[in-house]
Amino acid sequence: MRRPIIAGNWKMFKTRPETSAFFDALIPQIQDIEHCDIVVAPPYTSLATAVEEADGTRVTISAQDVHWEEQGPFTGEVSVKMLIDVGCTYTIIGHSERRQYFGETDETVEKKTRAAAAGGLNAIVCVGELLAERDSGEALNVVRRQVQNGLGRLTPSDLSHIIIAYEPVWAIGTGRTATPEIAAEMHAAIRKTFAEIYNEAAADALRILYGGSVKPDNIAALMKKEDIDGALVGGASLDPASFAAIIKYT
Ligand code: PGA
Repeated sequence: MRRPIIAGNWKMFKTRPETSAFFDALIPQIQDIEHCDIVVAPPYTSLATAVEEADGTRVTISAQDVHWEEQGPFTGEVSVKMLIDVGCTYTIIGHSERRQYFGETDETVEKKTRAAAAGGLNAIVCVGELLAERDSGEALNVVRRQVQNGLGRLTPSDLSHIIIAYEPVWAIGTGRTATPEIAAEMHAAIRKTFAEIYNEAAADALRILYGGSVKPDNIAALMKKEDIDGALVGGASLDPASFAAIIKYT
Protein backbone atom coordinates (compact mmCIF):
# COMPACT_ATOMS: atom_id res chain seq x y z
CA MET A 1 0.00 0.00 0.00
CA ARG A 2 1.34 3.40 -0.96
CA ARG A 3 0.75 6.14 1.59
CA PRO A 4 -1.14 9.11 0.08
CA ILE A 5 0.42 12.59 0.08
CA ILE A 6 -1.29 15.94 -0.21
CA ALA A 7 1.27 18.66 -1.03
CA GLY A 8 0.68 22.39 -1.37
CA ASN A 9 2.85 24.43 -3.74
CA TRP A 10 2.57 28.08 -2.76
CA LYS A 11 4.66 29.34 -5.72
CA MET A 12 5.54 33.05 -5.24
CA PHE A 13 2.94 33.75 -2.55
CA LYS A 14 3.04 34.58 1.18
CA THR A 15 5.38 36.63 3.34
CA ARG A 16 6.49 35.38 6.76
CA PRO A 17 3.52 36.90 8.67
CA GLU A 18 1.18 35.42 6.04
CA THR A 19 2.90 32.06 6.49
CA SER A 20 2.37 32.15 10.25
CA ALA A 21 -1.28 33.11 9.81
CA PHE A 22 -1.77 30.21 7.39
CA PHE A 23 -0.40 27.65 9.85
CA ASP A 24 -2.35 29.13 12.76
CA ALA A 25 -5.51 28.54 10.75
CA LEU A 26 -4.57 25.19 9.19
CA ILE A 27 -3.15 23.19 12.09
CA PRO A 28 -6.30 23.00 14.27
CA GLN A 29 -8.25 21.73 11.24
CA ILE A 30 -5.93 18.84 10.41
CA GLN A 31 -4.59 17.79 13.80
CA ASP A 32 -6.28 14.39 13.76
CA ILE A 33 -5.51 13.45 10.16
CA GLU A 34 -3.81 10.07 9.90
CA HIS A 35 -4.59 8.89 6.39
CA CYS A 36 -2.02 10.91 4.41
CA ASP A 37 1.29 12.73 4.53
CA ILE A 38 0.93 16.52 4.39
CA VAL A 39 3.57 18.72 2.73
CA VAL A 40 3.67 22.50 2.28
CA ALA A 41 6.11 24.24 -0.11
CA PRO A 42 6.49 27.97 0.68
CA PRO A 43 8.94 30.31 -1.07
CA TYR A 44 12.55 30.20 0.23
CA THR A 45 12.09 33.33 2.36
CA SER A 46 9.29 31.69 4.37
CA LEU A 47 10.88 28.26 4.82
CA ALA A 48 12.32 28.89 8.28
CA THR A 49 9.02 30.34 9.50
CA ALA A 50 7.09 27.39 8.04
CA VAL A 51 9.46 24.85 9.63
CA GLU A 52 8.98 26.54 13.00
CA GLU A 53 5.19 26.69 12.64
CA ALA A 54 4.99 23.05 11.53
CA ASP A 55 7.21 21.76 14.34
CA GLY A 56 5.36 19.10 16.34
CA THR A 57 2.55 18.88 13.77
CA ARG A 58 1.93 16.37 10.98
CA VAL A 59 2.97 18.87 8.30
CA THR A 60 6.42 18.66 6.69
CA ILE A 61 8.05 21.41 4.67
CA SER A 62 9.28 21.43 1.10
CA ALA A 63 11.26 23.83 -1.05
CA GLN A 64 10.08 24.62 -4.58
CA ASP A 65 13.44 24.07 -6.29
CA VAL A 66 17.06 23.22 -5.49
CA HIS A 67 20.48 23.41 -7.13
CA TRP A 68 22.57 20.29 -7.75
CA GLU A 69 25.91 21.59 -6.44
CA GLU A 70 26.66 21.59 -2.73
CA GLN A 71 27.90 25.19 -2.75
CA GLY A 72 29.71 27.59 -5.05
CA PRO A 73 29.47 30.71 -7.23
CA PHE A 74 25.84 30.21 -8.33
CA THR A 75 24.11 33.50 -7.55
CA GLY A 76 20.50 33.07 -6.52
CA GLU A 77 20.69 29.31 -6.03
CA VAL A 78 20.16 27.17 -2.91
CA SER A 79 21.67 23.72 -2.26
CA VAL A 80 20.31 20.46 -0.81
CA LYS A 81 22.50 20.94 2.25
CA MET A 82 21.03 24.41 2.85
CA LEU A 83 17.46 23.12 2.55
CA ILE A 84 18.15 20.31 5.01
CA ASP A 85 19.83 22.80 7.33
CA VAL A 86 16.70 24.98 7.41
CA GLY A 87 14.54 21.92 8.18
CA CYS A 88 13.10 20.96 4.79
CA THR A 89 12.47 17.28 4.11
CA TYR A 90 11.21 17.68 0.54
CA THR A 91 11.84 19.74 -2.56
CA ILE A 92 9.82 20.12 -5.73
CA ILE A 93 11.93 19.71 -8.90
CA GLY A 94 11.12 20.45 -12.55
CA HIS A 95 7.82 22.24 -12.06
CA SER A 96 6.38 23.23 -15.44
CA GLU A 97 6.70 26.92 -14.56
CA ARG A 98 10.44 26.39 -14.08
CA ARG A 99 10.59 24.46 -17.36
CA GLN A 100 8.58 27.12 -19.25
CA TYR A 101 9.96 30.37 -17.81
CA PHE A 102 13.36 29.55 -16.27
CA GLY A 103 15.08 27.20 -18.67
CA GLU A 104 14.65 23.97 -16.69
CA THR A 105 15.36 20.92 -18.85
CA ASP A 106 15.24 17.15 -18.35
CA GLU A 107 19.00 17.35 -17.92
CA THR A 108 18.86 19.84 -15.03
CA VAL A 109 15.93 17.90 -13.54
CA GLU A 110 18.10 14.80 -13.55
CA LYS A 111 21.03 16.55 -11.84
CA LYS A 112 18.78 18.09 -9.20
CA THR A 113 16.90 14.86 -8.54
CA ARG A 114 20.07 12.85 -8.07
CA ALA A 115 21.57 15.52 -5.81
CA ALA A 116 18.40 15.71 -3.68
CA ALA A 117 18.11 11.95 -3.27
CA ALA A 118 21.82 11.52 -2.55
CA GLY A 119 21.58 14.20 0.12
CA GLY A 120 18.55 12.57 1.74
CA LEU A 121 15.97 15.10 0.56
CA ASN A 122 12.68 13.75 -0.86
CA ALA A 123 12.10 14.99 -4.40
CA ILE A 124 8.67 15.67 -5.91
CA VAL A 125 9.63 15.61 -9.59
CA CYS A 126 7.09 17.18 -11.93
CA VAL A 127 6.31 15.99 -15.44
CA GLY A 128 3.48 16.87 -17.81
CA GLU A 129 2.61 17.74 -21.37
CA LEU A 130 1.62 21.06 -22.96
CA LEU A 131 -1.86 21.53 -24.45
CA ALA A 132 -0.52 21.33 -28.01
CA GLU A 133 1.22 18.05 -27.15
CA ARG A 134 -2.02 16.57 -25.76
CA ASP A 135 -4.02 17.80 -28.76
CA SER A 136 -1.55 16.26 -31.19
CA GLY A 137 -1.65 12.89 -29.42
CA GLU A 138 1.91 13.21 -28.11
CA ALA A 139 1.15 13.39 -24.37
CA LEU A 140 2.21 9.86 -23.47
CA ASN A 141 5.45 10.11 -25.45
CA VAL A 142 6.34 13.48 -23.93
CA VAL A 143 5.80 12.33 -20.36
CA ARG A 144 7.54 9.02 -20.93
CA ARG A 145 10.55 10.93 -22.27
CA GLN A 146 10.54 13.30 -19.27
CA VAL A 147 10.55 10.29 -16.92
CA GLN A 148 13.27 8.44 -18.83
CA ASN A 149 15.53 11.49 -19.18
CA GLY A 150 14.90 13.11 -15.81
CA LEU A 151 14.57 10.04 -13.61
CA GLY A 152 16.31 7.30 -15.55
CA ARG A 153 19.64 7.06 -13.75
CA LEU A 154 18.84 6.76 -10.06
CA THR A 155 20.52 4.37 -7.65
CA PRO A 156 18.46 1.83 -5.68
CA SER A 157 18.85 3.95 -2.55
CA ASP A 158 17.76 7.10 -4.43
CA LEU A 159 14.44 5.49 -5.34
CA SER A 160 12.96 5.69 -1.84
CA HIS A 161 13.26 9.50 -2.03
CA ILE A 162 11.43 9.91 -5.33
CA ILE A 163 7.84 11.02 -5.86
CA ILE A 164 6.53 11.95 -9.29
CA ALA A 165 3.87 14.61 -9.83
CA TYR A 166 1.98 14.38 -13.12
CA GLU A 167 0.86 17.92 -13.91
CA PRO A 168 -0.58 18.45 -17.39
CA VAL A 169 0.37 22.05 -18.17
CA TRP A 170 -3.08 22.78 -19.64
CA ALA A 171 -4.62 22.02 -16.23
CA ILE A 172 -2.35 24.22 -14.08
CA GLY A 173 -4.02 27.36 -12.81
CA THR A 174 -6.66 27.10 -15.51
CA GLY A 175 -9.53 25.56 -13.56
CA ARG A 176 -9.50 22.81 -16.18
CA THR A 177 -8.69 19.65 -14.18
CA ALA A 178 -7.78 16.50 -16.04
CA THR A 179 -10.60 13.99 -15.64
CA PRO A 180 -9.75 11.19 -13.19
CA GLU A 181 -9.65 8.88 -16.23
CA ILE A 182 -7.11 10.99 -18.15
CA ALA A 183 -4.97 11.37 -15.02
CA ALA A 184 -5.17 7.67 -14.14
CA GLU A 185 -4.19 6.65 -17.67
CA MET A 186 -1.05 8.77 -17.47
CA HIS A 187 -0.23 7.62 -13.94
CA ALA A 188 -0.39 4.00 -15.10
CA ALA A 189 1.89 4.86 -18.05
CA ILE A 190 4.39 6.54 -15.72
CA ARG A 191 4.38 3.50 -13.43
CA LYS A 192 4.93 1.20 -16.40
CA THR A 193 7.84 3.35 -17.61
CA PHE A 194 9.36 3.21 -14.15
CA ALA A 195 9.01 -0.59 -14.12
CA GLU A 196 10.79 -0.76 -17.49
CA ILE A 197 13.66 1.42 -16.27
CA TYR A 198 13.98 -0.15 -12.80
CA ASN A 199 11.74 -3.06 -11.75
CA GLU A 200 8.17 -3.91 -10.74
CA ALA A 201 8.86 -3.48 -7.03
CA ALA A 202 10.24 0.04 -7.51
CA ALA A 203 7.28 0.94 -9.73
CA ASP A 204 4.78 -0.47 -7.22
CA ALA A 205 6.33 1.55 -4.41
CA LEU A 206 6.52 4.81 -6.43
CA ARG A 207 4.05 7.46 -5.30
CA ILE A 208 2.59 9.44 -8.19
CA LEU A 209 0.70 12.65 -7.44
CA TYR A 210 -1.71 14.46 -9.73
CA GLY A 211 -1.51 18.25 -10.05
CA GLY A 212 -3.50 20.82 -11.99
CA SER A 213 -6.55 22.65 -10.61
CA VAL A 214 -7.07 20.24 -7.71
CA LYS A 215 -9.88 21.61 -5.53
CA PRO A 216 -11.97 20.38 -2.57
CA ASP A 217 -14.71 19.29 -4.98
CA ASN A 218 -12.60 17.16 -7.33
CA ILE A 219 -10.01 15.57 -5.02
CA ALA A 220 -12.15 12.61 -3.92
CA ALA A 221 -12.82 11.39 -7.48
CA LEU A 222 -9.11 11.66 -8.33
CA MET A 223 -8.05 9.79 -5.17
CA LYS A 224 -10.38 6.89 -5.98
CA LYS A 225 -8.15 5.93 -8.90
CA GLU A 226 -5.70 3.21 -7.97
CA ASP A 227 -2.63 4.80 -9.54
CA ILE A 228 -3.26 8.29 -8.10
CA ASP A 229 -1.44 8.48 -4.77
CA GLY A 230 -2.06 12.10 -3.88
CA ALA A 231 -2.08 15.64 -5.17
CA LEU A 232 0.21 18.60 -5.73
CA VAL A 233 -2.05 21.57 -5.14
CA GLY A 234 -1.29 25.14 -6.26
CA GLY A 235 -3.98 27.81 -5.96
CA ALA A 236 -6.22 25.89 -3.57
CA SER A 237 -3.34 25.32 -1.12
CA LEU A 238 -3.06 29.04 -0.35
CA ASP A 239 -6.28 29.13 1.63
CA PRO A 240 -6.15 27.10 4.87
CA ALA A 241 -9.83 26.13 4.64
CA SER A 242 -9.63 24.79 1.09
CA PHE A 243 -6.28 23.07 1.72
CA ALA A 244 -7.73 21.43 4.86
CA ALA A 245 -10.78 20.31 2.85
CA ILE A 246 -8.48 18.71 0.24
CA ILE A 247 -6.45 16.97 2.98
CA LYS A 248 -9.72 15.56 4.37
CA TYR A 249 -10.73 14.19 0.96
CA THR A 250 -11.88 10.76 2.17
P1 PGA B 1 -2.93 24.70 -9.54
O1 PGA B 1 -1.35 24.49 -9.59
O2 PGA B 1 -3.46 23.75 -8.48
O3 PGA B 1 -3.12 26.13 -9.17
O4 PGA B 1 -3.46 24.35 -10.90
C1 PGA B 1 -0.76 23.22 -9.47
C2 PGA B 1 0.73 23.32 -9.55
O5 PGA B 1 1.24 24.14 -10.33
O6 PGA B 1 1.46 22.58 -8.85
